[in-house]
Amino acid sequence: MNVIAENSTSVWMDVKVAPGAAPLTADASADVVVVGSGIAGLSTAYEFVLAGYSVIVLDRGVIAGGMTARTTAHLAPVCDDGLSDLLAMRGRDLARGFQASQAAAVDRIQQIQERLKIDCDFRRLPAFLFLDPDSDETVLDDEVSAAAEIGVAVERGVGLPLRGLGGRPYLTYPRQATFHPLKYLRGLAEALASDGCRLHPFSAVTAVEEAGDAVRVKVEGGHVVTARHAVVATNSPIHDLVAIHTKQAPYRTYAMGFEIAPGLLADALYWDTADPYHYVRLVSGRAEGDEADVLIVGGEDHKSGEADDAAERFDRLEGWIRALVPDLGPELFRWSGQVMDTLDYGGFIGAEGGSSRVFLATGDSGQGMTHGVVASLIISDLIAGRSSPFADVYDPDRKPVKAATTYVSENLTAVTNMAQYLMPGEVSSVDELEPGQGAIVREGLRKIAAYRAPDGTLFERSAICTHLGCHLAWNSFEQCWDCPCHGSQFAPDGAVLNGPAISPLAAVERNG
Ligand code: FES
Repeated sequence: MNVIAENSTSVWMDVKVAPGAAPLTADASADVVVVGSGIAGLSTAYEFVLAGYSVIVLDRGVIAGGMTARTTAHLAPVCDDGLSDLLAMRGRDLARGFQASQAAAVDRIQQIQERLKIDCDFRRLPAFLFLDPDSDETVLDDEVSAAAEIGVAVERGVGLPLRGLGGRPYLTYPRQATFHPLKYLRGLAEALASDGCRLHPFSAVTAVEEAGDAVRVKVEGGHVVTARHAVVATNSPIHDLVAIHTKQAPYRTYAMGFEIAPGLLADALYWDTADPYHYVRLVSGRAEGDEADVLIVGGEDHKSGEADDAAERFDRLEGWIRALVPDLGPELFRWSGQVMDTLDYGGFIGAEGGSSRVFLATGDSGQGMTHGVVASLIISDLIAGRSSPFADVYDPDRKPVKAATTYVSENLTAVTNMAQYLMPGEVSSVDELEPGQGAIVREGLRKIAAYRAPDGTLFERSAICTHLGCHLAWNSFEQCWDCPCHGSQFAPDGAVLNGPAISPLAAVERNG
């Protein structure tokens, strides 16, 4: 039951990637096995196929159907958390390395798109950072001086053509980019398949084990893929029980698409200085012959599982964008996705804990498209025995000392979450559940994640996350259970929708 896909439909999802690919049905072997088929997984597979390796890609669901299908597809090399914060957090050299790697990722997408002639609306455009009414103008001053130190091109301006911003200052970052992510990945997947790469959807991985000079990747149903190297490129890593999960935290972000007349707003990336910030971009005609473009607006982020008020968040997003663009057309899409925010804005890419066989890519910090491609560049270098100019920036074993306060506060989620077990249920009995409603019900000492489907069917599962035991929270917009600790999601019937969990929620046993 993939409830999420039905209730949270992004502007990209009418494009199917590798629709003819089939699940794994026998043991297999390859040089490299990639777990996860989002932009990180498919980009990594491409680099290996290009270098002559045999590659197998496995995914829990459809190819490119996870968080990549829920992106807003900004290809902005510039750090969206702010260059001044990046500089303070990472220091000059690593901040420069971060920016260089993100720019290299966009260049790589452009090279591949041109080489494979993928029709994916890739284009270079400027990005505008404008002042939120509650921000002080010194925010922009700080960004300009940090940009100079890091070596990022930026220009000042006044008066973006948005209502109410006429006299307000803004910054322009030239040569950013955007594209249609699923059209791009569809092209990439076609190239992969024609070069012999095996893509297997609906092949959930249950274990990644190093065994001598090989890696054994076990798949639900019992089949095993044996490879010389494994790359785990899932939203949140499924093979790492603790270490990485203490250095990143799952956040939900919300996006909406509105019809907009072509030319009403300059084709650019826009974001403001609010916290959390709002972001805007345009998608040209959705389909052949479409007259109107789509304006995408996103924001209203919160820690996963710590709020269940999507309707109010969408209302605020709509109010915000309609105030800036009064001639906006009707709403066409609304969806939500999950980003993994890291302590120092860089993802975790490479081999962890001295492993020479298992590599990971996680922690997009809201820049998932570029991080995914950075991962493909770093990991393909490392596995081939080359040094990567970007490896230090994303070293999974690094200790982000300057983020110590944030580190403690993010990890408090797991501690405070455990107190939930002592709290009463949200409803006292499943009889109180309305059709389409989910809630936690206390039954003696245990907590039950209960959901009543629109047809009246009652689903009852344990409310304990099968990853590390955190207490789940209902997500009424996506009609699923979210884990606040590390980002797992479960369908009402207990099936895993998003890792790091790999096992379904336990059934509720009753005597008699
Ligand atoms: Fe780790 Fe739930 S995702 S405990």
